[in-house]
Amino acid sequence: MLKMVVLASGRGSNFIAIADAVNAGQIDGRIEAVLSDKAEAKVLTHAKKRGIPARAITRTDYESMATYEEDLLKVIESYEADVLVLAGYMRIIGGDFLKALKIPVLNIHPSLLPAFPGLSAQKQAIDYGVQIAGCTVHYVDESLDGGPIIAQKAVDVLPNDDEESLSMRILVEEHKLYPEVLAAMAEGRIKCEGRRVRVEVKKEEQ
Ligand code: GRF
Repeated sequence: MLKMVVLASGRGSNFIAIADAVNAGQIDGRIEAVLSDKAEAKVLTHAKKRGIPARAITRTDYESMATYEEDLLKVIESYEADVLVLAGYMRIIGGDFLKALKIPVLNIHPSLLPAFPGLSAQKQAIDYGVQIAGCTVHYVDESLDGGPIIAQKAVDVLPNDDEESLSMRILVEEHKLYPEVLAAMAEGRIKCEGRRVRVEVKKEEQ
């Protein structure tokens, strides 16, 4: 059983997709808690509705980024989770935090990395004129959206797409990809060799 802590800043649609996959038995896991750096984040309301412990730890309550992350780390560790799941967490995680945290950290990014890291990835894709976009689940390291790639899904960019329509089409895929990766992690099907990560296919699907 994969014990997860979710860290998110906003809307929470990826959290919902993961929570639904847990409830449907698709992921052999449990969401121990949802934490947010924003007191007003919708994700906290969604978590509470599902009876999942939800708590805001806001940066402005702390003197520095270092003291904020120290506290965040303590709270995450208290849940004894197997993985920290970033789902729309809008801050860069510090190197000291990553070194101290003894569990893997996963993130989902709305582009086919390494293209378009950072903010507004879907707008970057539209502005660049790519014809295929998508999303990526990756391990988090100290780089910006540059950790080892676990899985990706592609979507076509249509001639009339704008940032919003493309974001929505990518989001549909995000909601499938993140639960798939977490299900694979729970079943020990993720194999890493340096930067090269392989998600093994489920036995019955072979
Ligand atoms: C998603 O587009 C995700 O790829 C990015 O932030 C957004 C979060 O959306 N990292 P939500 O809060 O899960 O709805």
